[in-house]
Amino acid sequence: MQIKAKVLGTGYFLPDRILSNHDLEKIVDTNNEWIVERTGIRERRIAEPDMRCSDLAYEAAQMALKNANLSPEDLDLIIVATDTPDYMFPATACVVQARLGAKKAGAFDLEAGCTGFIYAMSVAEKFLLSPDFNHIMIIGSEVMSKIMDYTDRGTCILFGDGAGAMVLGKSAGTCGIVNAEIGADGTGAGLLLQPGGGSAFPASHESIDKKLHYLKMSGNDIYKFATRIIVEISERLLNKAGLGIEQVDFFLPHQANIRIINSALKRLKIPAEKVLLNLEHCGNMSAASIPVALAQADEKQLLKSGAIILTVGFGTGLTYGGALIRWGRD
Ligand SMILES: CC(C)(COP(=O)(O)OP(=O)(O)OC[C@H]1O[C@@H](n2cnc3c(N)ncnc32)[C@H](O)[C@@H]1OP(=O)(O)O)[C@@H](O)C(=O)NCCC(=O)NCCS
Repeated sequence: MQIKAKVLGTGYFLPDRILSNHDLEKIVDTNNEWIVERTGIRERRIAEPDMRCSDLAYEAAQMALKNANLSPEDLDLIIVATDTPDYMFPATACVVQARLGAKKAGAFDLEAGCTGFIYAMSVAEKFLLSPDFNHIMIIGSEVMSKIMDYTDRGTCILFGDGAGAMVLGKSAGTCGIVNAEIGADGTGAGLLLQPGGGSAFPASHESIDKKLHYLKMSGNDIYKFATRIIVEISERLLNKAGLGIEQVDFFLPHQANIRIINSALKRLKIPAEKVLLNLEHCGNMSAASIPVALAQADEKQLLKSGAIILTVGFGTGLTYGGALIRWGRD
């Protein structure tokens, strides 16, 4: 299979402030034991009130550029995957483009919820087939704390803030994105959403009184969808690439709930030591979960050249997707 895009550098940024389960016990009717047992999360990072999505994205992008040994002017495109952009418009990617000084780069946002970074990888991979694009920055950046209802214990315990970035370039060798797949089932669009602020329910006193500007989720439905789809996509990607599950060196699922991840490990027969995790200390960072975990593993030099990484995401939309990556620069 021809490899079209390879990873040139990764980066991430996490805000300093930690919100632990014990902190949450003081603001909502919950407890540490319930959260750890039902989700696997112990703490999450929370951005300062004046921090925007673009601030986190910028920091992660700077680190990825440094790792890739590239300058901002080398970028042809910037894609920011996010649920929590700076504004409804313009795109957060444009704000990041200006701050980086990436004058040559086009810039747009991509909304695919927690699957956003996988979608961005898939889109970037196709752009890199064109002679006009050589280096693409993709970023998953989220300030989920800004859309959390900290009186709703069914959601506020799950999410955290952070950003992860990746620079992709053309590949003529054996390393890079082996294949990437994206999909959606829009019939589930009402299961996880921020109802207010868009054209359906524009911001108004009423929309605020009804708390429509906060994330709403039907947790059990998402749970069932996630456990099913992770296995389906993983098997499809492996079949398409002609690889067996035993050839996967690292499994990187979206970090939503440890029980979802453990169920996938069991059904796919992947040993627990192959899974990359940051859920315990970061919670669910939506589009940022996967790129942060990848960049952390890269920083720790866990990912040896030639290693096969299977990454799978799912989220609002409902969206889903996955990618197989052969790590390295060859
Ligand atoms: C949200 C989620 C953790 C809830 O876990 P669950 O085991 O399904 O729990 P339930 O919603 O069935 O609730 C079980 C009980 O715990 C209670 N509960 C819910 N949240 C609680 C909390 N934070 N603390 C204490 N108790 C809680 C419920 O009120 C319910 O009590 P009841 O039996 O008295 O009614 C789980 O459904 C989940 O992770 N879903 C997927 C979410 C997700 O991945 N979203 C992002 C997609 S990208």
